[in-house]
Amino acid sequence: MSDHTITPSSNATSMRTHMCGELRSDQIGQTVSVCGWVGRRREHGEHLAFVDLRDHSGIIQCVVNDDVDVRSEYVLRITGTVRARPEGTVNDGLPTGEVEIGDCQVEILRQATPPPFPIDARADDVDENVRLQHRYLDLRRERMQKNLRVRSKINAAVRNAMDAQGFVEVETPMLVPSTPEGAREFLVPSRKEPGSFYALPQSPQLFKQLLMVAGVDRYYQMARCLRDEDLRADRQYEFMQLDMEMSFVTQDDVLDAVSEAVLDAAEVATGERPLPIERITWREAMDRYGIDKPDLRFGLELTELTPIFAATEFKAFAGAGAIKGIRVPGGADEYGRNQLDKLTDRAKSLGAKGLVWLKTTDEGFDSPVAKFLSDDEAAAVRSAMGAETGDLILVVADEWMTTCEVLGTLRNDLGRPPVHEGPYRYVWVVEFPLFVGVDKESGRPKPGHHPFTTPHPDDLDKIESDPLSVRSIAYDLVLNGWELGSGSIRIHEPDLQRRVFHALGISDEEAERKFGFFLNPFDYGAPPHGGFAFGLDRLVAILAGEENIREVIAFPKTQSGTDPMTNSPIPGDPKALAELGLKVLPPAT
Ligand code: AMO
Ligand code: AMP
Repeated sequence: MSDHTITPSSNATSMRTHMCGELRSDQIGQTVSVCGWVGRRREHGEHLAFVDLRDHSGIIQCVVNDDVDVRSEYVLRITGTVRARPEGTVNDGLPTGEVEIGDCQVEILRQATPPPFPIDARADDVDENVRLQHRYLDLRRERMQKNLRVRSKINAAVRNAMDAQGFVEVETPMLVPSTPEGAREFLVPSRKEPGSFYALPQSPQLFKQLLMVAGVDRYYQMARCLRDEDLRADRQYEFMQLDMEMSFVTQDDVLDAVSEAVLDAAEVATGERPLPIERITWREAMDRYGIDKPDLRFGLELTELTPIFAATEFKAFAGAGAIKGIRVPGGADEYGRNQLDKLTDRAKSLGAKGLVWLKTTDEGFDSPVAKFLSDDEAAAVRSAMGAETGDLILVVADEWMTTCEVLGTLRNDLGRPPVHEGPYRYVWVVEFPLFVGVDKESGRPKPGHHPFTTPHPDDLDKIESDPLSVRSIAYDLVLNGWELGSGSIRIHEPDLQRRVFHALGISDEEAERKFGFFLNPFDYGAPPHGGFAFGLDRLVAILAGEENIREVIAFPKTQSGTDPMTNSPIPGDPKALAELGLKVLPPAT
C-alpha cells in the first residue's frame, strides 16, 4: 500500500487495512482496503452504484462503477479512499454512516450463488430447519456473530477466573463407562470387543472426583457433556459445562469460587458486574416460590395460610398439609369466569384437587366458596395476603409439596417475563433434600442429586429413621428461573456412603458391582471434596438475550435431534456394522 498515512487496525491482514465496521470520519482522506460480502447493491446513476460491503464488524458503503458485476454475497476486496458522505446522506443508524469509500478498485475474490434467505434480521423469521440447513449463512448474520463472540468472551472470562484462583484445567476422556448422572447415555460400540460399549460422558463427574484422590486439589474443565434426553429450549444432546472440583473445602469455598467465574462472565458480557449472589434454602424457595429454581424478577409470592384453617369447616381445606395463596394485584376484573375455569383446570392437571379463587370486594370475597368461609377466616386471609379491593387470590390446599408446586407453576404462568428481560437475578439455592420421593416399586427413597452427595451434618441421625427429611450439602445456581448449574460436597467416608446406599436400597454387593471401580480408589485416601458444574450454553443464552440455547451454539441439533446441514443421523454402513458385530433390527411396532 503506497499511502503512508494509513494506521492499520489490529484486524489488518496482508489483504485488508481495516474491518468494514471500523471506518469513521477519522479516516477521511486515507486509502484503505476492506474485504467482505456484498450485502446490498443500489444503482446510483451517473454510471455509479452503491455497494454495502459487510464483514462481522459491520457494513461500509462503497461507491463503485456500475459496470462492475457484483451481486449479493459476492466476496470482494475493495480499495479506495474514505470520504465524508454528501450532506443529507449521512446514515445515523449505521456506525459507519458518516463516511463511504470512493474511487473504488473492486477485486472479486469469489462469486456467490444467491442465498436462500436474506443475510440480515429478516432471517429471524425463516423456518429454523432452513436456517440450520445453511447454518454457515445464518452465522454470517449480525445477531449470530454477536452471539458467537459473546460466547467466546464468556469462555475466556471463565477460564481466566478459574486460572486466577489456582484451578488446573485437566481433560477427561470421551469414551467412558456409564456415569451415574441419571440421563440416558449415548453408546459407542467397541470394534475390538464386539458386543461391548463405551458411553459418551454425561459429565466428567467420576474422573473429577478421582482427580481429587490424585491430589490435583483444584480442577476445572470446559467440558463437553452428552445426554440422550428430549431436547428443549434449554437442552441439547451436546452441551458445555464449566466443570470444577476442589479438595479440603466446605460449601462456601465452592460457592465463592464459582461465583467469581460467573460474575466475571456476566461482567464481560453485559458491562456490569452483578451484586454478590444471594442464597436461599431449598425449603424457603419452595415455600415462597413453589419451585427449586425461583425466578426472583417478579412478585406473586406464595403466602402461608395453613394456620388460619386449622379448625375450618370448609371440607376442601380441612386437614390439608399446607394451604397457600398467591395474590394477583388488580386481578379481580382482569380474570373472567372463563379464565378462572382455565386456571382451575391447569391446577388440576398439575395434581391439585382444585383451585379456590377469591375476588376481593369492599364487603369481603366474591367467590363460589365464600359462603364456606367463616368471617374470621375471610378476614384473616385478607390480612395475611395483604389484599385490597380488586385483587384476585388463588388458594390451593394439599400435601405441602403439591401445594407449593402447583402454585409455583401458576405463579410462573401468570407473571414470568421472557428469560432475558429485565434485571439478572442470580440466586444460590442450598440445602436440597438428600432424597426426593419414594420409588413406587421398592418403597425406597430416591436420590435427590446423586448417591455420592453428603448429607447435612445436622441430619445424619435421620438417614435411617426419617430419610425424606434429611437435607444435603447440594446446591444449585439459578438465573431468572433457569437452572444454571448444580453441585455438592461429596461423601468421602465409606461408612457414611454405605448408610446412604442402604437407605436407597443398594446392598454392599450391588454397590461394589456398580460403583466399586469409582469408590474403591477412595480407600487409598480420598480428601474431603466437593464441586460444581454450570451449563455454559444456558449462561451465554441468557446473557446474550436469547430464549433458546440453539441460538448460541454454532452447530446445534434441531428440537427433534437432527442436523439438517449434515443430514445426521444417517443409517449405519452395513460393512461398518458388520465389523462392530452389530445388526440393526427393524423398528419395534
Ligand atoms: P447436572 O446434571 O445438574 O450436574 O448438570 C449441570 C448443568 O449442566 C447443564 N445441562 C445442560 N445444558 C444443556 N443441555 C443439556 N441437555 C443439559 N444437561 C445439563 C445445566 C445443568 O445445571 N456432575 C454434576 C455436577 C456436579 O455435581 O459437580 C452435573 O453434571 O445448566
Ligand atoms: P368441591 O368441594 O370439591 O366441590 O370444591 C369446592 C371448590 O373448592 C372448587 O372450586 C374446587 O376447585 C376447590 N377445591 C377443592 N379441593 C381443593 C383443594 N384441595 N385446594 C384448593 N381448592 C380446592
